[in-house]
Amino acid sequence: MEKVNIVLTGFMGTGKTTVGKLLAQQLGFEFMDTDVLIEERAGKTIPEIFEQMGEAAFRQMEADLARELADRQGVVISTGGRMMLDPDNAAALTSTGRVFCLVATPEEILKRVTQDDDHERPLLAVADPMKRIVDLMQEREDDYGRFPQMQTSQKSPDVVSKNLIGILQANPDLRVPISASMASYEFIVGGGILPFVSHLGGIVGPMAIVTDTNIGPRYAKSCGAVDIVIQVSPGQQHKTLETVQQISEQLVEQGFDRSGTIVGLGGSVISGLAGFVAATYMRGVDLVHCPTSLLAMIDTSIGGKVGINLPQGKNLIGAFKQPKAVIADVATLQSLSPNEFAYGMAEVIKHGLIGGGELFESIKNGSWTWEAWPQQPPAAVLQDLVAQAIQVKIQIVQEDPFEEGRRAVLNLGHTFAHAIEHASDHTVSHGEAVAMGLVAASNLSARQGYCPKHLQPTIETVLANAGLPCRIPASISSAEILTAIQRDKKRRGERLRVILLRDVGDIFVAENVPLAAIQATLTALRTPA
Ligand SMILES: NC(=O)c1ccc[n+]([C@@H]2O[C@H](COP(=O)([O-])OP(=O)(O)OC[C@H]3O[C@@H](n4cnc5c(N)ncnc54)[C@H](O)[C@@H]3O)[C@@H](O)[C@H]2O)c1
Ligand SMILES: [Zn+2]
Repeated sequence: MEKVNIVLTGFMGTGKTTVGKLLAQQLGFEFMDTDVLIEERAGKTIPEIFEQMGEAAFRQMEADLARELADRQGVVISTGGRMMLDPDNAAALTSTGRVFCLVATPEEILKRVTQDDDHERPLLAVADPMKRIVDLMQEREDDYGRFPQMQTSQKSPDVVSKNLIGILQANPDLRVPISASMASYEFIVGGGILPFVSHLGGIVGPMAIVTDTNIGPRYAKSCGAVDIVIQVSPGQQHKTLETVQQISEQLVEQGFDRSGTIVGLGGSVISGLAGFVAATYMRGVDLVHCPTSLLAMIDTSIGGKVGINLPQGKNLIGAFKQPKAVIADVATLQSLSPNEFAYGMAEVIKHGLIGGGELFESIKNGSWTWEAWPQQPPAAVLQDLVAQAIQVKIQIVQEDPFEEGRRAVLNLGHTFAHAIEHASDHTVSHGEAVAMGLVAASNLSARQGYCPKHLQPTIETVLANAGLPCRIPASISSAEILTAIQRDKKRRGERLRVILLRDVGDIFVAENVPLAAIQATLTALRTPA
């Protein structure tokens, strides 16, 4: 690995020193703590420097040190709490180093600093230290928010260090070209690439980020110089015309015009919303997708479909809008909840089954399983997974840009999935339903003699390793699922069209599948695994 410096910043108690030392050890780098270095050189403690020489003198020492360290190579630098908040220091250290801001919840910070006897924390010598931590974090949120964040809560320093190494080892610049009707652009996948969005996306004019209130506070500031940030409420229920109107009005109020680019920073809901606004605002402005959920990375951000929901149904209003670039930073997946991560894995596994070859093998043989949570697969592994999964979709979308035939295979497992979601009154999530749907598709394929019987248990193991369910809950009636399937297919007959498998990588559209076989599969999947 290239010997750039690694700079850790963040609030007290986020583990800059402990993680920094481990990281240096694991990378064979030197470790330096700027506070310790300043104390050694001055022959005084920091409180003594403040008292005898004044804060300005201390800040000058930090500035000199920042310039000095920027000239070094292969050093992990743990910085004093405020050092990187000075723009000149930050500029010097980022010129030769990758900066990460370690973050933790206030509860975890309080726990860690009260357990740490080595440091005096004068800032917290107050009646209500918890309130003090929350206030200070809020005060510094904007400043720290400029750097890529690494969550450390509920992770051991070793796990944090390994997560960081994963991000560092991820190829920062893996590019997959996509050519769509009338457009060609790149899908760029890397670790820690959000700060380079404007450069990677070729954005020249003003940049307006559209995001939700879960993602915006974490990542909007990481995207470099942003002119406008619009945050909407998270969730499918807000993928509406009303939200489109809110976003558009805010853009008008802030003087955003056709020279600008809309950056959709978020999951599938944001891809749909930001894409729809970009397709319609002033008859269309440039769009860059920055997907932050696994599902949005490997599915929703490719294919150019953007849309919003009506009370009568999902995605009933929409457009085809190709982005100028898709920039997927796998480091953002760190903050995805375990469930959302697993739901994304259901579609990655679906892509693996469709594409076959290396992707399915790497998921099947990968060392990571659900039990390892809260440790996600290393960023380098995630980056490969995303790169391979999108290639499956890109290839199929390019073969069939207007959804006339081949693209149907992308619906593997979805006939069952949509019906299960519906029959469960949406208590089963889309990702869980897709997992059950994939098992059902393999069961039905074997039942009809298309694929070997051992395929189903193989698929089940892969799904279970990703934390996904393989059986339909007994509380959902088979009759209702069957009715929903028939309604979906707009067919009342005894035979239906379903996407089935001959093998991994050999997916086809089966016509005339008997309803009785589908019923038998539903019954089989209700028996406990
Ligand atoms: N029919 C299909 O095959 C299909 C395809 C794509 C999407 N969908 C729909 O999309 C939805 C799921 O997609 P999604 O997960 O991308 O949706 P989403 O945008 O709703 O994201 C899910 C949640 O995760 C949060 N989130 C996203 N990225 C995060 C991050 N990096 N850190 C912390 N929180 C983050 C979001 O704020 C949101 O609360 C489902 O409702 C599904 O039905 C369906
Ligand atoms: Zn899906």
